[in-house]
Amino acid sequence: MLTISIAMDEKKGIGYKGRLPWHLKEELQLFKSNTMGKNILMGQTTYDGLPRKLKGRHTIVCSIDPEYKVNDPDAEVTYDLKKFLDEHEFSDDEVIVCGGASIYRQAYPFCSKALISFVKGEYETDTRFDIFDLNDWNIDKEVEYEDFIYRELSRKRNDKAIFVTGCCGYIGSHTVVELLNDNYDVVGLDNFSNSKPEVLNKITELTGKKVKFYEGNMLDRELLEKIFDENNIGAVIDFAAYKAVGDSVKKPVEYYTNNVSSVLTLLAVMKEKNVKSIVFSSSATVYGSENPVPFKEDMPIGGTTNPYGTSKVFVEQILKDLCFADNTFNACVLRYFNPIGAHESGLIGENPNGVPANLLPFIDKVAMGKLEKLNIFGDDYPTPDGTGVRDYIHVVDLAKVHIKGLEKIAHKNGSYYVYNIGTGVGYSVLDIVKAYEKVNDIKIPYVIAPRRPGDIATCYADSSKANRELNWHTTKDLEDMCRDCYRFVVNCSKEQ
Ligand code: UFG
Repeated sequence: MLTISIAMDEKKGIGYKGRLPWHLKEELQLFKSNTMGKNILMGQTTYDGLPRKLKGRHTIVCSIDPEYKVNDPDAEVTYDLKKFLDEHEFSDDEVIVCGGASIYRQAYPFCSKALISFVKGEYETDTRFDIFDLNDWNIDKEVEYEDFIYRELSRKRNDKAIFVTGCCGYIGSHTVVELLNDNYDVVGLDNFSNSKPEVLNKITELTGKKVKFYEGNMLDRELLEKIFDENNIGAVIDFAAYKAVGDSVKKPVEYYTNNVSSVLTLLAVMKEKNVKSIVFSSSATVYGSENPVPFKEDMPIGGTTNPYGTSKVFVEQILKDLCFADNTFNACVLRYFNPIGAHESGLIGENPNGVPANLLPFIDKVAMGKLEKLNIFGDDYPTPDGTGVRDYIHVVDLAKVHIKGLEKIAHKNGSYYVYNIGTGVGYSVLDIVKAYEKVNDIKIPYVIAPRRPGDIATCYADSSKANRELNWHTTKDLEDMCRDCYRFVVNCSKEQ
């Protein structure tokens, strides 16, 4: 059940200078549709501010002012909300409470799952019932008011920390920045197997906040227990894994140990410490090579051709089994397509050591003159220009969806969700090279090389489920991705 609340005081209530969003037609419409079939308890000022009554609803207007009169014969009025609620045995999800702080205070013990649904679409997420009091704030302008709502909603809902494994890695670090900016406290773990400690300083530089950091391995059960004992953790985002496809073929035991056994250790500790929510980094690679594009979440998974991919299939199955066995456990599996790009500040990004296996880091090295030319693996695929087609997604868009994933499973009691995380658009290797050259005004020399074993011709997502259910949409395009990649590597080279 969706539960959002908002601050208003009696003087600056909903009717005050038309400053609240539901004065706008579409918000009112949204409110109406989201409150369908519910009883509505409404504060006096709220009621006055609404463009007249909500037809067909049982609206109960609550006022603390005994002189207050409602000019609406259909509206029921109560001057003692507590008494009223005592007399009516509403169940939690029958009632919508909306209005000022005073009505919340009175309604709170009775309607802990009340639905308050009036703010814009982006707030339409699962969140806890909270009380905000505008009197604590000195807010004058409309825009500040909306900022206030957003800030407070974020601040209030995030009182438990998020434990991020692999917090210094490419996707982990970008996600931590988004979490901190959204007022989550972050507890992080990394063993720097594919990241650098400096990332922690960059994160602080970007956000003005610190991660409570632990160095170590997720296989270290004692360390995990200590982390859970020392922190008030509400949920986990698990990034810690090896990810080089080619390497995984050579080192299956290391890959399965690091990517699967470590998750089992983590889940055992989560169970022991009663932390029941996890967002897991999975990959489009789980779709194997047999499914037709675009990939959809309900397609069969498996048929992977390397231990890296298979390790993701295994963990998805483990999480599914766990959620089935324990109906209080919540998992949100995110199947990433091809994350590229970097934070637009140029402070964090992907800069692997040695010869990169992935396309963009390779192009970056060519751009920086560290590698002579790009090898394009095959130009005879059944694609428009013969080169491989992938669904590239900006890492910041990707980072943001983790917060949506957390929100999706917050306060749930047993749930398992899987989402494709891509843009739904496929670009070829040549498209990428051209975009990179254009946006950065630089030449990327390339040659056509033989196909790379294990590659498929085309891979892109149907991400409509994530768009719809998580209210998440990508905002960055291919040019942003290529520009941000280059900015980051140029920055890195200045620092060296
Ligand atoms: N490519 C080249 N030259 C290179 C590197 C890549 O032509 O030097 C081509 C590949 O053949 C492919 C495309 O660029 O057509 C993208 O290749 P990447 O290695 O960047 O990415 P993949 O699609 O092979 O794999 C990536 C991740 C996996 C993940 C998968 C999900 O590396 O971890 O996306 O689709 F599982």
